[in-house]
Amino acid sequence: MKNNNSKHFHLLRKIFNKSNATKKELSKEFGFSLRKLNYCISQLQKQLITGDNFVLKKLKIIIKILFIYPIIIISANNSMAAEGLDLLKNKWSFEGLFGTFDRASLRRGYQVYNEVCSGCHSIKLLSYRNLSEKGGPEFSMEEVKAIAAQFEVTDGPNEDGEMFTRPGRLSDKFVNPFPNVKAAAAANGGAYPPDMSVLAKARKDGANYIYSLLLGYEEAPAGYELDDGVYYNKYMPGHKIMMAEPLSDGAVEYIDGTETTKEQIAKDVTTFLVWAADPHLEARHKMGFKVFFYLIILLTLVYLSKQKVWSRFGSKGEEDEETFDKVERAVTEYEGEDPKTFK
Ligand code: HEC
Repeated sequence: MKNNNSKHFHLLRKIFNKSNATKKELSKEFGFSLRKLNYCISQLQKQLITGDNFVLKKLKIIIKILFIYPIIIISANNSMAAEGLDLLKNKWSFEGLFGTFDRASLRRGYQVYNEVCSGCHSIKLLSYRNLSEKGGPEFSMEEVKAIAAQFEVTDGPNEDGEMFTRPGRLSDKFVNPFPNVKAAAAANGGAYPPDMSVLAKARKDGANYIYSLLLGYEEAPAGYELDDGVYYNKYMPGHKIMMAEPLSDGAVEYIDGTETTKEQIAKDVTTFLVWAADPHLEARHKMGFKVFFYLIILLTLVYLSKQKVWSRFGSKGEEDEETFDKVERAVTEYEGEDPKTFK
């Protein structure tokens, strides 16, 4: 660069003060336009003044995009997460850009929901057939038919105008434990057990929130007043919850031999509830991966064709350098000097 600079400086001095007429004559004689010669002069000036380097400038922009902006974004996110309660964190398989559900955990989670939570909490938006769909617990058709048939569904009216009950079918929605919200609240001391169709999404950091809440039951600190039917929970906003602790070690019995610690059960049912709130998560992640992959291929192709198209012109720096050399030779010859003695 330094070498180049002194060379450029020399060249600049040679042509800078020439009259316009001379410049015109010069450029004509050696086959490039006056505009190009003037451009050449301005480029030389720029380089000499700022030590400007085109490649370095681009590199700096790329480094900024790759490293500095993500750091700013991540730290902004972290400071947001730092507010509020410190939830228990679990490593969830479905987290991240390409996460998928742990199939076995989803199945156990359904069992926990069915045996423990479904007595109070509905999942109105889920149908039994969803349990067999791809990206979910993926029970077989036979299994799901058997699951649905365990429930009694109110249907009708029949020809006599009367409602009747029949065993559940694949197309039925999950049955509601209570006929309406009032009945649900009345059965739970006035608190309504929220529907779980979207609960995991509706709460901030839903998975960790539900997991923490299930494990957050404690003795109330001394002097903390709790009414009848109200329990102390570390992670409930306000610490008071009207749901008795639903889980304990061994609360369910898993057929696949997984340990039934409270933590494991909480993890499984949370996984199930996250799926229930977002049954298409895996399909979306898969699509995201495809798009990502496609974009990388596309970007590579575009880059390669750009290189190919522009290779005819040489890089900007090289091209400039060539023009400078040409001008240098032209000026020197014009003045009757031997280019070789020019240093
Ligand atoms: C005996 C009835 C009952 C059972 C069984 C039950 N819950 Fe609840 N649950 C409630 C009630 C009532 C509330 C509302 C509590 C409140 O608002 O104070 C609640 C609230 C919750 C909340 C808090 C929702 C919010 O608003 O942030 C979560 C999470 C929850 N239950 C999860 C579960 C899970 C998971 C199970 C099964 C393992 C379960 N519950 C079993 C009655 C029950």
